[in-house]
Amino acid sequence: MRNAMLLMLKNIAYKIRYPSSYRSVQTTAVYQHGDDIFVHRDTCENNAGTKFEFSCENQKRAEAIMAIYPEGHKRAAVMPLLDLAQRQYGWLPISAMHKVAEILEIPKMRVYEVATFYTMYRRVPTGKYHVCVCTTTPCWLRGSDEILEAVKQNLGLEVGQTDEDKMFTLSEVECLGACVNAPMMQINDDYYEDLTAEDTHEILCCLKDGNKPSPGPRSGRCAAEPLGEPTSLTERPPCPGENVRKDL
Ligand code: FES
Repeated sequence: MRNAMLLMLKNIAYKIRYPSSYRSVQTTAVYQHGDDIFVHRDTCENNAGTKFEFSCENQKRAEAIMAIYPEGHKRAAVMPLLDLAQRQYGWLPISAMHKVAEILEIPKMRVYEVATFYTMYRRVPTGKYHVCVCTTTPCWLRGSDEILEAVKQNLGLEVGQTDEDKMFTLSEVECLGACVNAPMMQINDDYYEDLTAEDTHEILCCLKDGNKPSPGPRSGRCAAEPLGEPTSLTERPPCPGENVRKDL
């Protein structure tokens, strides 16, 4: 105790005497927003002994997927096969990754690298609806903080949590490629775009009631067309065959 006090006083004295050369112990920022850790930790529901086999139907699908890729390049099927495994199981246990590695005859590490990189692969048990709110710059500038807050409020969940009924899991994710329709969120396979906090509540309540809200932009525009009048390419586009020589 006495030694610790002496060391602390010595540090303070050194800091006062050499303010510019003093370095405190370095720490990294606390990672607050991610849901998952990138390494695997064995749990009772997710370990190498967790049973996973492709169903007969999915086995055929897996063969059809692999047939797309030329000989020597079958490993390129790793992403669709992981996706297939996840759709069958509901999430992606490590044993499913091992199965994919076995089918593709590649080292397990090659599969781990892919499965831990993409947020679409869920390596922990996940609710029926996986709500992913994009908070990358374009969405953030258009109000993704309010959308995330609305989801938290509506579901009573924090990022990374799943509710007790296993209905909803909330994730905060990086750009989902729909920046023109920011802010947006993805729920399972559907994108909900041009969101406001009210839209977000409406979508989640609709799911809670057992209905399926229509995906797409909520602003009334079609896909990513301009909001308001077009400002370029305003002439009528030529119809098929228009302006083409008659003798052709
Ligand atoms: S930044 Fe949100 S979809 Fe691109």
